[in-house]
Amino acid sequence: VSLKPFNTFGLDVRAEHYAELAEPADLPALLAATPAPTLWLGGGSNILFTRDVPGLVVRLALKGVRIARDDGDSVVVEAAAGENWHRFVRRTLEHGWYGLENLSLIPGTVGASPVQNIGAYGVEVKDSIEQVVCADLSAGGREVVLSNEACRFGYRDSIFKHAAGANLLVTAVRFRLAREPRTTTGYGDIAGELARMGRTNPTPLDVSDAVMRIRAAKLPDPATLGNAGSFFKNPIVANAVADDLASRFPGLVRYPAGEEHSKLAAGWLIDQAGLKGYRDGDAGVHTRQALVLVNYGRATGADIARLAGKVRNTVFERYGVALEAEPVIL
Ligand code: EPU
Repeated sequence: VSLKPFNTFGLDVRAEHYAELAEPADLPALLAATPAPTLWLGGGSNILFTRDVPGLVVRLALKGVRIARDDGDSVVVEAAAGENWHRFVRRTLEHGWYGLENLSLIPGTVGASPVQNIGAYGVEVKDSIEQVVCADLSAGGREVVLSNEACRFGYRDSIFKHAAGANLLVTAVRFRLAREPRTTTGYGDIAGELARMGRTNPTPLDVSDAVMRIRAAKLPDPATLGNAGSFFKNPIVANAVADDLASRFPGLVRYPAGEEHSKLAAGWLIDQAGLKGYRDGDAGVHTRQALVLVNYGRATGADIARLAGKVRNTVFERYGVALEAEPVIL
């Protein structure tokens, strides 16, 4: 089975066997299947396939959204892992449940959102997560519910990316959303975009619209140009390192990350190193956002990985900063 429709880089790798999990009740049978599942796939927007996948690839197609709890001024909304993230966000806004608007238009599924703690425009999904419902793959799929704290969220990080969470498959996420609109507009160009839209007193839906416009202008749509969003994390370095870089590279973009560290804009580092728009065959550094690697059509995962290596080496030689890939490389 070709996995091309199931990864946003549009890479034509093959799965030895493929199945979809649409009903929680089907999980035990899949866990007992031969060959055994080797990969659980969400929206395929955070993965780089460099080879065919042996065994059974299972796409999480669990669907459903419901109110798990209504506390009046806030609600707990449970969404199944296979729900499309952006459609879910817009649905919450239509219902008047607020908190996820800054995370509009992020590709992928609800189930993937806690894994890398998706974030954009000053908001991270952890800010709205109440609980994550999981199946324990080492215990026949037994349900385990993790509190926000138990998920150990960090910048693009959670327990699900570490050994302690390796056996946990996210099946649903419970979000605590507010009925009272409170907007976060201080980050990036949100305020500017809202002003251009003529929204002086923006609602959360306006913020969602503004985010969608900003993202559409900078980030390639995977449906037309294969990509997995930011290919690298923004590196976190000691303040002294950032100070030194700032003195040597005027205009360096940095944000505070706690008392002693700074987060650098990897896109700026790559851009200033002259790689924005760089292309090697069909693998390229996006022309409008240097943090995004793209597949112009016929690149293989190995081509993208090679380009990523070149970007890493160039950035390391120039700034002494090591970039870490964001997607899972398989
Ligand atoms: N910049 C450049 N040149 C570039 C790209 C960026 O100079 O080619 C500069 C920008 O001008 C800006 C700074 O770098 O001053 C940061 O750029 P941007 O606001 O585009 O955000 P980012 O740091 O590159 C992060 C997230 C994005 C998220 C945006 C907006 C990571 C790895 N990426 O990107 O998330 O949408 O902030 O909040 O943290 C993703 O994770 O896939 C993703 C797209």
